[in-house]
Amino acid sequence: MSGDKILVKGGQAVLPDGIKELDILVSEGRIAKIGRDLECGGARVIDASGMYAAPGLVDIHCHLREPGYEEKEDIASGAAAAARGGFTSICCMPNTNPVNDNAVVTEFIRKKASIAGPVRVYPIAAITKGLEGEELTEAGELAESGATALSDDGRCVKNAQKMRLALCYAKRFGIKIISHPEDTDLVNGGLMNEGSWSTALGLPGITRAAEEVMIARDCMLAEIENTGVHIAHVSTAGGARIIKEAKERGAAVTCETAPHYIYASDEWVKSYDTFTKVNPPLRTEEDRKALIKALADGTIDCIATDHAPHHIDDKNVEYAIAANGISGFETAFGICWTVLVKGGFMTPEKLFAKMTSAPAAILGLDAGTLEEGRSADLVIIAPDEKWVVDPSKFVSKGHNSPFGGCELTGAVKYTIAGGQIAYGGK
Ligand code: DOR
Ligand code: ZN
Repeated sequence: MSGDKILVKGGQAVLPDGIKELDILVSEGRIAKIGRDLECGGARVIDASGMYAAPGLVDIHCHLREPGYEEKEDIASGAAAAARGGFTSICCMPNTNPVNDNAVVTEFIRKKASIAGPVRVYPIAAITKGLEGEELTEAGELAESGATALSDDGRCVKNAQKMRLALCYAKRFGIKIISHPEDTDLVNGGLMNEGSWSTALGLPGITRAAEEVMIARDCMLAEIENTGVHIAHVSTAGGARIIKEAKERGAAVTCETAPHYIYASDEWVKSYDTFTKVNPPLRTEEDRKALIKALADGTIDCIATDHAPHHIDDKNVEYAIAANGISGFETAFGICWTVLVKGGFMTPEKLFAKMTSAPAAILGLDAGTLEEGRSADLVIIAPDEKWVVDPSKFVSKGHNSPFGGCELTGAVKYTIAGGQIAYGGK
């Protein structure tokens, strides 16, 4: 019940002005007080000593599969998996069936999400009808009905003139365009990153140019038209470099990468495990290191999961025809904490910002900041707890993770969304 009081005691509170050992009182769904030695009769007490109490994580790129592909995931199972991963606000991509290219589907998703539970679900609607890349959707109407951004994610808007117009209309209606940068002609039937591993494994490669030319195009369009654009799942060193240069010229470009690109490389494909198949593909070790650096130096603004759950039947096939995607909610925080913080590349403050306030700011979500009066969205993290990934235990319907058996450090203990315990404490 959102009316219940929760007192989070003794934790390291991750606040806008730094990390401080303070208690947090949650009441009626809001952060009622942040302070020292708080007491509250009748409140449920969570002992957070030795743990971080951070704003609930914010994911601006995931796939919830409903309507249409409920065998892979549905809004309720996806929201529960998000909570298991520490997320309290998630934005879901429109490649459902029917595609979320109109107000009816946007409203359907919002309604289902409000029934599903306390995790906030923000629908992202399509840029073009049916994701066909031809006819633009009604940006104004979609924004009005609650779409939080527009994207044809999973497909590129191939026609540059359509993308240009979409950027201009989106700006007018105050809604961000998220670019899926992939030139499908350059992909040319490739299945994994083009390089020494694709040669060794005998799998057709995908040139990094497929991603980078589209990043360059969309940065240029945004710069010339004086609009914003957000670039999804940057996976190459060159992509990050192009974005860095565009930012230096003053272009309003933001971007994300996903946890799997900073943890794994194309060498992982050597098992021919279809769980390593993802779009864009896992890149080289040099790319992986460059992405970590780009996250640390601010070129990459935020981390988004690209949670892409699939049914086992879509993965238990040969590599060539397997579906792209990794079920990512439940490993995202552990991967990022292990690689970035334990790896010494980033402070805890910085990583929390990349997974909370930064993504929220990109899409203008009222989330990602721990402050009195705001919605009580919190995650309690045990920073030194080691755990081994077991995808068979995922809350998500998608058990498609190549990270089974990997040991990660940093565990989500509780997720509180809108003042309700959405995960933990059982
Ligand atoms: O790996 C991916 N899976 N990349 C995408 O762009 C789409 C996604 C999906 O919908 O499964
Ligand atoms: Zn995606």
